[in-house]
Amino acid sequence: ADMMQQEQYRPGYHYTPARAWMNDPNGMVYYRGVYHLFYQFHPHSNVWGPMHWGHATSPDMLHWTHQPVALAPDELGAIFSGSAVVDWNNTSGFGTPENPPLVAIYTYHNEADRLAGQRPPQSQALAYSTDQGASWTKYAGNPVLQAAPDQGDFRDPKVRWHEASNSWIMSLAVGDHVAFYASPDLKQWHFLSQFGKDVGAHGGVWECPDLLPIRVAETGAQKWLLLLSINPGGPNGGSATQYFIGDFDGRQFVLDPAFAHQLKQDGPQWIDWGRDNYAGVTWSDVPATDGRVLMLGWMSNWDYATKVPTSAWRSGMTLPRELQLHQHTQGYVLHSLPVRELDALKGHVSQPQAAELVLPGAALEQSETYVEFSRPDGSSKAYLEFSNAHGESYKVGLDGQTGRYFSDRRQAGRKDFAEQFASALHTAPRHAQSAVIKLRVYLDRNSAELFADEGATQMSELLFPTSPYTRVRFVVNGQAVQPAVFKVTQLNASPAA
Ligand code: FRU
Repeated sequence: ADMMQQEQYRPGYHYTPARAWMNDPNGMVYYRGVYHLFYQFHPHSNVWGPMHWGHATSPDMLHWTHQPVALAPDELGAIFSGSAVVDWNNTSGFGTPENPPLVAIYTYHNEADRLAGQRPPQSQALAYSTDQGASWTKYAGNPVLQAAPDQGDFRDPKVRWHEASNSWIMSLAVGDHVAFYASPDLKQWHFLSQFGKDVGAHGGVWECPDLLPIRVAETGAQKWLLLLSINPGGPNGGSATQYFIGDFDGRQFVLDPAFAHQLKQDGPQWIDWGRDNYAGVTWSDVPATDGRVLMLGWMSNWDYATKVPTSAWRSGMTLPRELQLHQHTQGYVLHSLPVRELDALKGHVSQPQAAELVLPGAALEQSETYVEFSRPDGSSKAYLEFSNAHGESYKVGLDGQTGRYFSDRRQAGRKDFAEQFASALHTAPRHAQSAVIKLRVYLDRNSAELFADEGATQMSELLFPTSPYTRVRFVVNGQAVQPAVFKVTQLNASPAA
């Protein structure tokens, strides 16, 4: 029975480890037709502990195969977050030009050093694979980059090849800022510059940076995007990921003046305003012919991650998503859209000519709900409500009075496991200005992800309904109303094997 209860919340098209604890996605790299996902993993329990890199592979970021643990702690420390690249030119010498190596760049965290306080506890190190990720060898010259003697937080290296300067660039989280380093061969690193001490959100420690080029969809102009996770200090509490738009010349990241103005006017910008999308970074080496910026995040929040009611395993990843940079009248907005590979999971479609749809059994718990409706007037709320036979319901929509989106999981299911889980309404700005509102909501057993206005506003939330939601209805001003467009599509998927 316990087993059944545990598996009740196992999502199908979101990655979860077979068992035990997982946090950040790591080393996401695409190589020879395979998406690799490594992750912070504690194989010996369902809470955080000495970190390993777990590993999974997929042809489409949705169907995953579990792989053996890639990296385990050693005398230098536990294996914290980091990235992986294809070293196409074999600059590291770990492979050959014919067989370019995969190189992982990760943080060692040495707990004994941290407690003793005599040596900096975090350093950066390398491991490589010449068999397409099947087996990994740690570099004998580790660590390759050490912190200053008094530096505690010094972690989460994200590395990419920078063509113009013919070097590898590393973004590193250093407490309250990001430091950039460069290297010709991944082994020797020199400091370039730092960013962020006096901009953005600083409610917590900075973690998991990612600096990457991205084109403005409307103009084709190239900008640089800096993703930056912070814990705590997120817009709705706990951990969350903010972003910055600027330029990078191979040495320094400088905020775009228009974006700097936006930050002053509107405050920090977040890739996701829900509570459950953290430590996300982008996939490395996505072919230029594809051209997409692909990412996923850890679908939890440090506020309650160790307490969520799935004890066999803990935590999954968010939906993989494509990031797009758009120019709105008020400035830059980073959009997130579920990857198009999701289309292949689509099954039965219902288009109710009504205000509500009842789907018996478990049909609704893995689904996409799409609605279009006109902007509600000043005083009313317009939202989707998913509910079950236990009287639990999850509401997500727009508040006409504030003009903000909201996600309300206060009555959505189990919440007694952690006080901070569902004590408040979560809200997000609406960036789009159109009179027609488009909401896309993905359910996958223990989560709901809202993509509003073609991904301009995004909210990812964990949910633990006692039984599956079987009814979805559209509500305006307290009344069930038929929206202009109403479409519910079942999604077929099964957990990783
Ligand atoms: C983010 C983080 C990283 C660190 C890892 C440890 O969630 O704190 O900064 O490398 O988790 O598991």
